[in-house]
Amino acid sequence: MTFGCKQLVLALLALVPTSQAQWDASRFAWYTGDAGSDFASAVPIGNGRLGAAIYGTGDERITLNENSIWSGPWQDRANRNSRSALSNIRSQLMSGDMTGAGQATLQNMAGNPTSPRQYNPLGDMTISFGHGSGRSNFLRYLDTYQGTAFVTYNYNNVNYTREYVGSYPHGVIAMRMSSSQAGQLNVRVSLSRSQYTTSQTASTSNGVNSVKLNGNSGQSSNAITFSSEARVVNTGGSVTTDGRSISVSGATTVDIFFDAQTSYRYSSQSAWESALTNNLNRAVSAGYAAIRSAAIADNTRLIGRVSLNLGSSGSAGNQDTRSRLTSYRSNPNADPQLATLMFNFGRHSLVASSRDTGALSLPANLQGIWNKDFSPAWGSEHLAININTEMNYWPAEVTNLGETHKPLFDLIKVAKARGQTMANVMYGCNNGGFVLHHNIDLWGDAAPVDYGTPYTMWPMGSVWLSLHMMEHYRFSGNRTFLQTDAWPVLQSAAQFYFCYMFNWNSYMTTGPTLSPENPFTVPGDMRTAGRSEGIDISVQMDNSMLEELFKAVIQTCQILGLANSECGSAQSYLSRLRPPSIGSYGQILEWRREYGEPEPGHRHMSAIWGLFPGSQMAPLNSSTYSAAARRLLDHRMQNGSGSTGWSRTWVMNLYARLLDGNSVWSSAVAFLQRYPSPNLWNTDSGPGSAFQIDGNFGFTSAIAEMLLQSHNVVHLLPALPSAVGTGSVTGLVARGGFVVDITWSGGSLTGASILSRNGGTLALRVAGGSQFSVNGVTYNGPISTTAGTTYRITPGMRWLRLYGVYCL
Ligand SMILES: *[C@@H]1O[C@H](CO)[C@@H](O)[C@H](O)[C@H]1NC(C)=O
Ligand SMILES: *[C@@H]1O[C@H](CO)[C@@H](O)[C@H](O)[C@H]1NC(C)=O
Ligand SMILES: *[C@@H]1O[C@H](CO)[C@@H](O)[C@H](O)[C@H]1NC(C)=O
Ligand SMILES: *[C@@H]1O[C@H](CO)[C@@H](O)[C@H](O)[C@H]1NC(C)=O
Repeated sequence: MTFGCKQLVLALLALVPTSQAQWDASRFAWYTGDAGSDFASAVPIGNGRLGAAIYGTGDERITLNENSIWSGPWQDRANRNSRSALSNIRSQLMSGDMTGAGQATLQNMAGNPTSPRQYNPLGDMTISFGHGSGRSNFLRYLDTYQGTAFVTYNYNNVNYTREYVGSYPHGVIAMRMSSSQAGQLNVRVSLSRSQYTTSQTASTSNGVNSVKLNGNSGQSSNAITFSSEARVVNTGGSVTTDGRSISVSGATTVDIFFDAQTSYRYSSQSAWESALTNNLNRAVSAGYAAIRSAAIADNTRLIGRVSLNLGSSGSAGNQDTRSRLTSYRSNPNADPQLATLMFNFGRHSLVASSRDTGALSLPANLQGIWNKDFSPAWGSEHLAININTEMNYWPAEVTNLGETHKPLFDLIKVAKARGQTMANVMYGCNNGGFVLHHNIDLWGDAAPVDYGTPYTMWPMGSVWLSLHMMEHYRFSGNRTFLQTDAWPVLQSAAQFYFCYMFNWNSYMTTGPTLSPENPFTVPGDMRTAGRSEGIDISVQMDNSMLEELFKAVIQTCQILGLANSECGSAQSYLSRLRPPSIGSYGQILEWRREYGEPEPGHRHMSAIWGLFPGSQMAPLNSSTYSAAARRLLDHRMQNGSGSTGWSRTWVMNLYARLLDGNSVWSSAVAFLQRYPSPNLWNTDSGPGSAFQIDGNFGFTSAIAEMLLQSHNVVHLLPALPSAVGTGSVTGLVARGGFVVDITWSGGSLTGASILSRNGGTLALRVAGGSQFSVNGVTYNGPISTTAGTTYRITPGMRWLRLYGVYCL
């Protein structure tokens, strides 16, 4: 034991080949070819409001998004029959007429029209270089740490480079094109959009070279309208315009700054156009180099808070990402760093698609902010709040990106006002409560969406969203936020249910409602036996979510010392919720009784929401419920669930909550083998199928949940897979505001340090309950911490005696 830690680290570093230092396999997605015409091979960057997907083609194509460009204005879709039909539908459901009630629900309660607004692309930028075939030494990459993209190649003995960065500080996408030989760069810059373009111009006057494209959402009045502009700044060469594009010839460097502004955030075209002009003037005078370094400083400040090491891949990680994904399908064990890259890609994607851009910032939607289609996949469901939007934010707090959560809170506030009106129109509840159904749009549209009994009528969206605000408080400890932001939302969410719920078998219950997207078979003693239906009362997910809502209200009342009537009502409703029931094969029952399952491998895990993201069914809370939740999850998996990318990542999070690391890992491997497109986006059923960003975020969340959980206690390595027995992580966050660094080896903890941001009590657990010490003292119960102080965790006595004196 003369070999100290420092020597050990140096010896290990010497083993890392230099080729890998160059291409950190956890950090870069890189390609030796361009994306061709495949959007899902384009490299995605963004500044939280503007998104860009870069193809790297000979004539560069960049698909551009701005997060408030959607398909139209606010629409009042409320069904005015709902209020009077409600009590009859409830009676039908209580008496067992499932089919009659389902039909009556659709006819009287579905929205009209059935769809909210959908997300739309801004358009494409084309930068024509005249470099068709004949490019060599081609390289294109995404740097998930800096949030930058890069393209380089040789053409006619000249090296060309293109750099791209999404800048949150300057509010633009900035680009630099350059040639290694002076005067060899010729480009033509244009903007295009396939629909609803209202003007397309270019001009060069007073040294300002600008390409502009304006468009709208297509309606004759009240359309969402936008203006966008690219400023072209050249070093060397000459500039001309044909009135629609800007051409630069004989330059050495060309910089492009892009921004777009819309009617969503401004009251008049002159207002958003002057914001656009001012922003671009500011960008041009700052210059590319300053914008790039500020953007990188901003991105790395957020991204750099967490560093994950799950082991190194050697040569398997040192390949073009496209080949790497292919190799992984047959030999996953060779490349553990692919999981780390995917974890980092999720954090990059969140920072790139969800930033605070003022009171009307918008959250990452189903495609983040990377969409090329006017009728995108799941077009009417861009903010599906029966899982997908929430999943986007699962990694936000635990991976130390709490500020990326704020755009979701902004939209909740918009939706709350809509939902208060909807509560009155549809349910006759006029007590300040708000209701949302299974989708919203940028206007906070609160009406039911689509037309089908397994999905349309789900009056629970406000609960799940509101709980995100409570979680933000639990992780950050920001009391001002709890008081001024979260409480009004939690209060209003609860108020709705105090009006809406009704007594059934002496439980306060919900209905008509459903268990998201999963149908059941109507049993013989109900009408119409054998049919597939979706609408019911007292669905398990509703009860699990309401339990957490009422507990959140009670907790907030305690922390803030409130004496509002909701504090008492939450307590009394909490005691009148139907507890989970357990069915014939030991599973949590999804509905109020055991129905037949037409889809036993269904992708939604709604019945065990109380396991994740909830905590009602977590093993340390209830071994009975967690065992029954596991039974249902295993049954689903044995029947083919986890069958879409996002569903597979929910499964990962659920196994993490069951403290089963090996099952998390086998689903992580299955996810990486099947779902990512070449640019690492999650897809519905594999490359070529619909892209949804939610699964990327679910993946990142699950990797964090494997290493740190905090819904009961601050739990280090709760679900460590044996496949990644040695590794480390820094900067994860636990509820209570504890920042946690952990190292492990041979499958167990070797050390941890925990920074207390806010002070407060720290209750700890290590893995399956192993012994450990805090600052050298054996842990035997919660300790009280001092804000700003770091606590060192060392493993149990035996380990400490052997190695601890050398390393810790
Ligand atoms: C062009 O790039 C290659 C690598 O792709 C490099 O070896 C070469 O030195 C570069 N040439 C110039 C003129 O920069
Ligand atoms: C706490 O929340 C308030 C209200 O949302 C916000 O203004 C403030 O910036 C937050 N404080 C921190 C440290 O994030
Ligand atoms: C789970 O257990 C914790 C700690 O005992 C408790 O605070 C929390 O309310 C429980 N959650 C649920 C949903 O039962
Ligand atoms: C469904 O899961 C059960 C285990 O819960 C299993 O016995 C059964 O074979 C599975 N059915 C199919 C069709 O895979």
